Amino acid sequence: MKAARYYGNRDIRIERIDAPELRPGAVAIDVAWCGICGTDLHEYLDGPIFCPPQGHPHPISGESAPITLGHEMSGVVAEVGEGVDDLQPGDHVVVEPYIIRDDVDTGPDSRDYHLSDDMNFIGLGGRGGGLSERIVVQRRWVHPVAKHVPLDQAALIEPLAVGVHAVERSGAKAGDLAVVGGAGPIGLLTAAVLKAMGCTVVISELSPLRREKALETGVADHALDPREVDVVDEVRRLSADGRGADVAFECTSVQVVVDTLVDALRPTGVLVIVSIWGSKGEIDFQKVVLKELDVRGTIAYVNNHPETIRLVEAGKIDLSPFITGRIGLDGLVDEGFDTLINRNETAVKILVSPSGEGL
Ligand SMILES: NC(=O)c1ccc[n+]([C@@H]2O[C@H](COP(=O)([O-])OP(=O)(O)OC[C@H]3O[C@@H](n4cnc5c(N)ncnc54)[C@H](O)[C@@H]3O)[C@@H](O)[C@H]2O)c1
Ligand SMILES: [Zn+2]
Repeated sequence: MKAARYYGNRDIRIERIDAPELRPGAVAIDVAWCGICGTDLHEYLDGPIFCPPQGHPHPISGESAPITLGHEMSGVVAEVGEGVDDLQPGDHVVVEPYIIRDDVDTGPDSRDYHLSDDMNFIGLGGRGGGLSERIVVQRRWVHPVAKHVPLDQAALIEPLAVGVHAVERSGAKAGDLAVVGGAGPIGLLTAAVLKAMGCTVVISELSPLRREKALETGVADHALDPREVDVVDEVRRLSADGRGADVAFECTSVQVVVDTLVDALRPTGVLVIVSIWGSKGEIDFQKVVLKELDVRGTIAYVNNHPETIRLVEAGKIDLSPFITGRIGLDGLVDEGFDTLINRNETAVKILVSPSGEGL
């Protein structure tokens, strides 16, 4: 089968490899669509980060480069392994792409398996990837999706689950005023979750195209250009008592955005840092103290897939407007990565069809 394999920095090759073999307790999935994520771009430009380099096998997967990429996938069950009796060939599924030690509790009540030692992701740390025609995944990480949800939209359930967990971390509730810094895929999908739960959403974003996307998809009530308007004043003006936003989400990894969000929050507000930081950021502790702010981190998801899937199945979030491109595996680097690295404001999510079907 065809697969996109990460060999190292700026070295991704489309190759023919053996299809993975089915194992007891696992599910063989024919991948329909796999999204390209900012993390994949980071591995390409600045990596290896999550991908174990050659000669340094990952302690859980035991694998090192070359690694099959792709962690935002949807597909159709091809076969089920011995002992799997609740999924059948033909079922539509998505993958919660974790590589986690076998002795960690990943049951439905666990709130922290994603923080366990040596955690990595399928499609970055080994165990195959969605940028290949077939993948075999342990049943625990396979989630069924109703057939009325198109498989292309289902490929966005993984990044949407990041938004669901970020919003869960914030404690936001219906009627809250939320401000989101950055309208990339993560900011937009976090805004979509906030909007679906009945919050008023203000987005601050530099790119006119992305502000337009936020408004046209209805995930933001207001999209501000921080070079044109004073975001803090505007957020205060929009809040019922003039004191600022209830919750804020940092989705840019840009220092000035952190500072703006700290100022835009009302006393006792909650700031969630969603962005990943390559260097140390700062926060004005005096403001945190005097406003009794909560500053919280969020990483990926933990038992958030069922709720995320329900939001999409119930039609509360329409993922179709966030799909801005569809390509085959051969165009991964020259078309997909090139667009997202050099013209990222023109795109939100580019999907890859590893088999070429659906293009
Ligand atoms: N915590 C997690 O689990 C998790 C998961 C996935 C991605 N991430 C991180 O989330 C962040 C966002 O991801 P993305 O894919 O949406 O990235 P992105 O680069 O596509 O989006 C960032 C957006 O911020 C905007 N921006 C930059 N400076 C700004 C400013 N001064 N004011 C307003 N907007 C500004 C950019 O124009 C861009 O649209 C990244 O750091 C990514 O690594 C975190
Ligand atoms: Zn991702």
